[in-house]
Amino acid sequence: MTTALVTGATAGLGAAFARALATERRDLVLVARDGERLAATAKQLTEKYHVEVEVLPADLVSDEGCALVEARLADATRPVELLVNNAGIGLRSGFVSNTIDDEERMLRLNVRAVMRLTHAALPGMIERGHGDVLNVSSVAGFGPTAPGSTYSATKAWVTTFSESVHLTLKHQGVRVIALCPGFVRTEFHQRAEIPTSDIPDALWLDADAVVRDALVDLRRGRPTSVPSVRYKVLGGIVRYAPRPVYLRLIGRAAKTVGRTTSD
Ligand SMILES: NC(=O)c1ccc[n+]([C@@H]2O[C@H](COP(=O)([O-])OP(=O)(O)OC[C@H]3O[C@@H](n4cnc5c(N)ncnc54)[C@H](OP(=O)(O)O)[C@@H]3O)[C@@H](O)[C@H]2O)c1
Repeated sequence: MTTALVTGATAGLGAAFARALATERRDLVLVARDGERLAATAKQLTEKYHVEVEVLPADLVSDEGCALVEARLADATRPVELLVNNAGIGLRSGFVSNTIDDEERMLRLNVRAVMRLTHAALPGMIERGHGDVLNVSSVAGFGPTAPGSTYSATKAWVTTFSESVHLTLKHQGVRVIALCPGFVRTEFHQRAEIPTSDIPDALWLDADAVVRDALVDLRRGRPTSVPSVRYKVLGGIVRYAPRPVYLRLIGRAAKTVGRTTSD
């Protein structure tokens, strides 16, 4: 059996990844901060899918938390064949209104931890001639949002980083993909206290469906995955519209709405 390591595995997309990978009969290493919730998740998965589940309680904002997971990823005696860098947070307000500590916390989790864990996992994968890294980004990373939230900037980094590493390693048997979903029903918005009542039902995606599409795209060797036709179209407009046109439109929308959420 092969082993997958999933960060943020106790809720939302991470929990959906853990379920989907257990269904494929992969052994799992689950990472999140809440040790009790991790243990409960591991117990459910072991009982239902009969796979080995290891838990690594770690705060990926901290140096120690990152180091713990990096050491597990670099352990050649227990290879990890798939790394899912999923843990991430958003912030309720725009850049100026947030505290700099909250901004730094988001940057460290959404960007720095993704970089560090990928860096720890890749040498073993390259040496073995195979391995997969799936980084959870967002359609929010396809263009700036207004008023300026840095969440979209963190996700722009994740997408560009993943695509760059994908290009570098695709001929060495290592696949790297950025998953760029739109709104997904998880704990994300509630945790950040981002209001969701104005978001139309049609824009919400189901976490299990997002994960299913992402794993198909990973196996097809694609550099990015944008689940659902809705978001392929919307994301495509944001990503490929001439930047001056997009900036004018988003600027106008910001004036009308007054504020936008960070995701
Ligand atoms: N939901 C959306 O609409 C949406 C859309 C696009 C992209 N995304 C991206 O999808 C990813 C997953 O988000 P989600 O919506 O599934 O969120 P979620 O439901 O809030 O789950 C977050 C998971 O990450 C863990 N986590 C949070 N902070 C952590 C830290 N400092 N160190 C380690 N683990 C931590 C949480 O467990 P603990 O609290 O126990 O640590 C939990 O398991 C994120 O990267 C997010 O940016 C989400």
